[in-house]
Amino acid sequence: MRGFVDLHCHWIAGIDDGVKTPEEGIDLLRRLRAAGFDVVVATPHMRPGMFDNDRPALEHAFASMRPHLVERREELPDVHLSSEHFLDDVVFGRLVKGQGLPYPDLGTEGRRHRESGCEGGGGGGPGGGAPAPPGARRLRGVLVELNPRGFPPQLQHRFFDLARAGLRPVLAHPERYEPVWKDDRCLDPLLDAGACLLLDVCALVGKYGRASRKAAEKLLDEEAYEAACSDAHRPSDAAVVVEAIEALEKRVGATEAVRLLRDGPQGILGL
Ligand SMILES: [Fe+2]
Repeated sequence: MRGFVDLHCHWIAGIDDGVKTPEEGIDLLRRLRAAGFDVVVATPHMRPGMFDNDRPALEHAFASMRPHLVERREELPDVHLSSEHFLDDVVFGRLVKGQGLPYPDLGTEGRRHRESGCEGGGGGGPGGGAPAPPGARRLRGVLVELNPRGFPPQLQHRFFDLARAGLRPVLAHPERYEPVWKDDRCLDPLLDAGACLLLDVCALVGKYGRASRKAAEKLLDEEAYEAACSDAHRPSDAAVVVEAIEALEKRVGATEAVRLLRDGPQGILGL
């Protein structure tokens, strides 16, 4: 099967705990393309104190990868830039000020917006990505991650603040968070605030342990996920992704797997 869209991948070299060299990054992209992904969004970490990346640094790193994407172009997926935003006070402040890297809006509305010269592909501000009633503005999806040991206080209010800033939180790997292991109803206030859940498909083959695997299976059974991703960090991860996609298809069926790997991610990109 083809046409998958990967919303979470660390293929930009030397900027976080992802690939170390441009060659590794290209190798990872080639392997993900072979696994069925036609679009792969780079989501390097923005996490102060651990990965001190800001938007200009990530845009520079993305541009540095561009020359490496030319050779054997037909074997590579289309690529875009976003970021995995660790939701501490610093990064939250950047997001509400339009200094984060939300997902690009690739839909008609976004194209019109870009052609009018209003905004670049990865910039902040309102855009597409979430279903909206007629007349309402569409929110742009933004990938956020949380401390796995516990959610920060007032998290739902922070998500409302992000919505007011034109952003819709896409919560990275909820199955890895300890509060979710205990009781996944802790996600309900976040879903009520408009967030959506992004499965790291590799959780289904035990990459992160039994608790994450069980949490992922439960959230799948509850049809709680809007999309699934690879969160691949190195070329060898691609083989695990292939195995995990098979496990996903086995658990939820081919139609639902396509919804999670293609339709859901496309919607978040405004396609
Ligand atoms: Fe990640």
